[in-house]
Amino acid sequence: MARINEHYRKLAAGYLFPEIGRRVTAFAQAHPDAGIIRLGIGDVTEPLVPAVVEAMRRAVDEMGTREGFRGYAPDQGYDFLLDAIIAGDYAPRGVQVAPGEIFVSDGSKQDSGNVQEIFGADCRVAVADPVYPVYVDTNVMAGRTGAVDERGYYGGILYLPATEANGFVPDPPAERADVAYLCFPNNPTGAVATHDQLARWVAWARAHDAVLIFDAAYDAYVQDPSLPRSIYEVEGARQCAIEMRSYSKRAGFTGVRCAYTVVPKDVTGVTAAGERVALHALWARRMSTKFNGVPYVIQRAAEAVHSPEGRKQTGEQVAFYMENARLLREGLGAAGFRVFGGVHAPYIWIRVPEGATSWGFFDDLLAKAHVVGTPGAGFGPAGEGFLRLSAFNSRANVEEALARIRRAFGR
Ligand code: MLT
Repeated sequence: MARINEHYRKLAAGYLFPEIGRRVTAFAQAHPDAGIIRLGIGDVTEPLVPAVVEAMRRAVDEMGTREGFRGYAPDQGYDFLLDAIIAGDYAPRGVQVAPGEIFVSDGSKQDSGNVQEIFGADCRVAVADPVYPVYVDTNVMAGRTGAVDERGYYGGILYLPATEANGFVPDPPAERADVAYLCFPNNPTGAVATHDQLARWVAWARAHDAVLIFDAAYDAYVQDPSLPRSIYEVEGARQCAIEMRSYSKRAGFTGVRCAYTVVPKDVTGVTAAGERVALHALWARRMSTKFNGVPYVIQRAAEAVHSPEGRKQTGEQVAFYMENARLLREGLGAAGFRVFGGVHAPYIWIRVPEGATSWGFFDDLLAKAHVVGTPGAGFGPAGEGFLRLSAFNSRANVEEALARIRRAFGR
């Protein structure tokens, strides 16, 4: 008898974005001429930049020759990409990362979902609330939680409210937790943590022998150079933090798939017998067992993101989306909404109108403005009362969406 993993049955509902997709499809079928504008899932809309396309073309040509053909990629990634990552992302910020500490992968969603495998089943996990649902759901699937309660909280997880009062950047908890997930710039609230705030987290992790999982998928959207892009800019983070970075949002790779995770050799956990073990060895074992590397063509594409032309072209693309974010932030503010985020992140986090719920406003926005957002409650109970809009779309669609929202809801 194939008994199922019962922990899957604890999951409160389907994954958030397919649920939104179902509602939007139903609406589109009923209103085929509505001209729906999708500002829901954070999926990029601009084409790949020329430097990336050229690099992919060259790599495809190489693969078609006997001399240039490659089979399985090296477990952690090709040296050319590991070196480009260090030279492009870390050295300029004064951060020490060795090539052997980087694991190239096919996405930060997978990495942030899979990383929990290397921790014990009894580890206590801390997350912000609201939070990117992958961190919670994968811990539920792994059996690290109890059942979900009527408010939407899973037993055993320590939720740290990210609210207007704390600027959507929770402080480390007074209570014990073994693994804490942090995401800055934040999905969904668009908040960004300062150096001091991250330093408090690093100090907490070191004092409690905890590990931080730092998801920096949106680092390219940080506009102020004095704000940290990497947790390793904080002294002591190499001893307690794993970091994830992605090419999805910085270079339009959501359909190309390339990311990387840094596991410094200094980060450790303990066995039941009290022996200290480097997490690097566990992650390396996990990756070599379950993953066969990112294709050569894709790694060449990622390398091109770090080239001078690639940096310039992808930088312009990020600036384009950030202009969309500015338009949304200012336009919605002028229409009377309370608006957060959108300054160092491609997400705008808005308070829904008085008396509405997140899902209620999601439905209203779709029905009255034909605009798709993401209900804040889908990211956790403290997201109730909010809705997230993504800046990933064409300028014309963003302007049209704003005009419709103003007409339908403006005060
Ligand atoms: C989102 O909309 O939250 C993102 O697209 C999720 C992701 O990157 O997986």
